[in-house]
Amino acid sequence: MAEKIGAVPAFGAASAPLDFTGQVAFITGAASGQGRQVALEFARAGADVVALDVGRRVEYPAVQHRADDALLSLADELAALGRRAVLGVADVRDDEAVTRAVDEAMVAFGRIDILFNNAGVLGYAEVDAITDEALDATIDINLKGPMIVARRVVPHMKAARRGVIINNSSIMGLRGGARLSHYAASKWGLTGLTKSWAIELAPFNIRVVSIHPTGVNTQMNDSLAEMEGTTAQEIGERSAGNLLAVPWVETEDVAALVLWLASDRARYVTGAQYALDAGLLSG
Ligand SMILES: NC(=O)c1ccc[n+]([C@@H]2O[C@H](COP(=O)([O-])OP(=O)(O)OC[C@H]3O[C@@H](n4cnc5c(N)ncnc54)[C@H](O)[C@@H]3O)[C@@H](O)[C@H]2O)c1
Repeated sequence: MAEKIGAVPAFGAASAPLDFTGQVAFITGAASGQGRQVALEFARAGADVVALDVGRRVEYPAVQHRADDALLSLADELAALGRRAVLGVADVRDDEAVTRAVDEAMVAFGRIDILFNNAGVLGYAEVDAITDEALDATIDINLKGPMIVARRVVPHMKAARRGVIINNSSIMGLRGGARLSHYAASKWGLTGLTKSWAIELAPFNIRVVSIHPTGVNTQMNDSLAEMEGTTAQEIGERSAGNLLAVPWVETEDVAALVLWLASDRARYVTGAQYALDAGLLSG
């Protein structure tokens, strides 16, 4: 019988701010968008942060907007919040670089409590026109990457008999989309990983969940817009079909969900898929 993951929340404690003091959050794809926001929110809530990003433009998709100094400016922002941080340039496909980052994090902090598997890429491709480059990048970064990172982080969580892994899938991990079969396959794959790891790791008090955002207001949509010769707003409105009257959700919405799932308030949530979809999947 597994012991309880966290303390029983006191009656009324749900209204208190989340507190991750003394914990360490390990975040991939942390330089921009959702990963960056989640890193900052964990730091604001008292956690120390390990922030990984590829540190350059990856080869796919061709159009990307991330600034190359984004990881450095994140370091400044985390320092301004008074948190300790390990910033690592690592491609999630590169086992050696990931292993180095995990080792460095363990030397610096001695623990990793939370893993947010978030790094990902997205481009459109019709099934009969998809290139090897698109297939390899999408599957290797979005699906194989989280496996490479988890296999290096999980031993430390197992040893501590505690941990939370949150996989950033997508609504495309719960439905399909035209010109998105490669992306949807990678994101459905994450759903399978989530459920399987939840079974395997529950005896070690490690919870595993996936989140499934609809469009999020990040550079990913700017890139798609540039590829399509349109605006990010139009991409959001066209592709989302959200029930609520928004073209997308904000990175703050994602961070709020991730922090709640990582907290003891969600101590019995594991193996689950959390849609942050503005109602899309119900339509
Ligand atoms: N933006 C959306 O509409 C949306 C919706 C649902 C899910 N998602 C998923 O959310 C995650 C975060 O995306 P985002 O919206 O913040 O986009 P983003 O482009 O702002 O952030 C993605 C980050 O991942 C990094 N990255 C890419 N390849 C990498 C690699 N090989 N190794 C390490 N880092 C790498 C990028 O440098 C970038 O900083 C992705 O997995 C994406 O598929 C995005």
